Amino acid sequence: MTQQILSIEELRLLAKKRVPRMFYDYADSGSWTESTYRANSEDFARIKLRQRVAVNIENRSLHSCMNGQAVAMPVAIAPAGLTGMQYADGEILVAQAAEEFGIPFTLSTMSICSIEDVAAHTGAPFWFQLYVMKDRGFIESLIDRAKAANCSALVLTLDLQVLGQRHKDLKNGLSAPPKLTLKNMINLASKPRWCLGMLSTKRHHFGNIIGHVRNVDDISSLMQWTAQQFDPTLSWKDISWVKKRWGGKLVLKGIQDIEDARHAVQSGADALIVSNHGGRQLDGAPSSITALPAIASAVGKQIEVHMDGGIRSGQDVLKALALGAKGVYIGRPILYGLGALGKTGVTRCLEIIRKELDLSMAFCGRTDIETVDQSILWPGTF
Ligand code: GLV
Repeated sequence: MTQQILSIEELRLLAKKRVPRMFYDYADSGSWTESTYRANSEDFARIKLRQRVAVNIENRSLHSCMNGQAVAMPVAIAPAGLTGMQYADGEILVAQAAEEFGIPFTLSTMSICSIEDVAAHTGAPFWFQLYVMKDRGFIESLIDRAKAANCSALVLTLDLQVLGQRHKDLKNGLSAPPKLTLKNMINLASKPRWCLGMLSTKRHHFGNIIGHVRNVDDISSLMQWTAQQFDPTLSWKDISWVKKRWGGKLVLKGIQDIEDARHAVQSGADALIVSNHGGRQLDGAPSSITALPAIASAVGKQIEVHMDGGIRSGQDVLKALALGAKGVYIGRPILYGLGALGKTGVTRCLEIIRKELDLSMAFCGRTDIETVDQSILWPGTF
C-alpha cells in the first residue's frame, strides 16, 4: 500500500484524514493571511529546471555533508513542535526513520518526547533546536542535557522571540494534550488510529519542559510558553553566550537578511538557515527561496548556508541546492508522512524525495549532487 503513495501531497491528504484537526492545522498553517507560507512553495514552482540530453548519467551520487556530517542526501529534518501529537511517540519514530535513512534529525525544544527519551531510542546523534528564553538557568540545563545526550549540533532559533499570530491555532484552542471539550471529543471520535496510539503511550506533554522548570508543571501550549518565557531582548551577545556554553557545532536558524547573515558569520556559527519559520512568523516576508541567492552569494564562502521553507519535492531540493544551499530542511512533508502512516510514512516521504531528487538531477545532466549549481536552472526563472 505504501509503495502506491507517490507524492508528498498524497501523504498530506492521508494525514489530514487521520490526525485530529487541531494538530493537522498546527502543522499546515502560517501566520495571519498565510501569504508567506504560500509563497514558500509557490516561488519554488516558478523556478524551472534545464533538461540536458545525451550526457552520461550513470552512477549518480546524492551523498553530501551538512555541518561536517556525512549525509545520504543533503536534506535534514527540521525541528517541529508537537511532533508527538501528530502520531504517538512521533519524535522517536521520526528520529529512527532519519537514522535508518542516513540523514540528520533535529529535535525541537517544544517536542513531546524529551531529549533523553529520543536519545534512549536511537543510535545516531541527533541535532537539538533551542530558543533563547528568559530563564537562562533553564537554557543552560537544556544545553547541558543536549550535550549529555550526545547531540551533534545545536540549532538556535532566532526568529521566534514573539509568536506570529496563527489564526487556526487560536480558534482551535491548540494544546497538548488536547482539552476534552465537546468539539474536540467529536473530532477525536473520527480518529480511532490516533486515539489508540495515544492510549498506548505516556508521552502526551512537552517532554523537555514539564518536570524540568521550577513552578511549571502544566504548560500545555506553545502560545502560553512563548508569552511567558521567550526573551524579546535577544541580542548577538546572547548568541555568543550560547555558543560558548554549547562548545559544539552551532547553526543559526531564521536568517532572511544579508546584514543578519554577516552577523551570523561574525558570531562564528558553523551554519545559518535561511528561513521564515515556514511562513509562521512574519507574514509578508519573502519566501525562503527568494531570500536564499543573495545570502548564499554574500556569505556562502564563509559559513555553510542552509535553507528551509516550502520544499515539497526532490525537485524543490534540487532548486535550493542550485541557488546556493549546501543543504535543506523539511518539516511539513515529514509531519504529513508521520500523521498518515507513522514511521513507515516518514520513510516513504524520504524515499519519495530521494527518488525525485536523483531522477531530476539526472534529467539536468548531472551525476553528483555536490556539483549542482545555477547552470541547471532555466534562465529568467530565478
Ligand atoms: C514553533 O516553532 C512553531 O512554529 O510553532
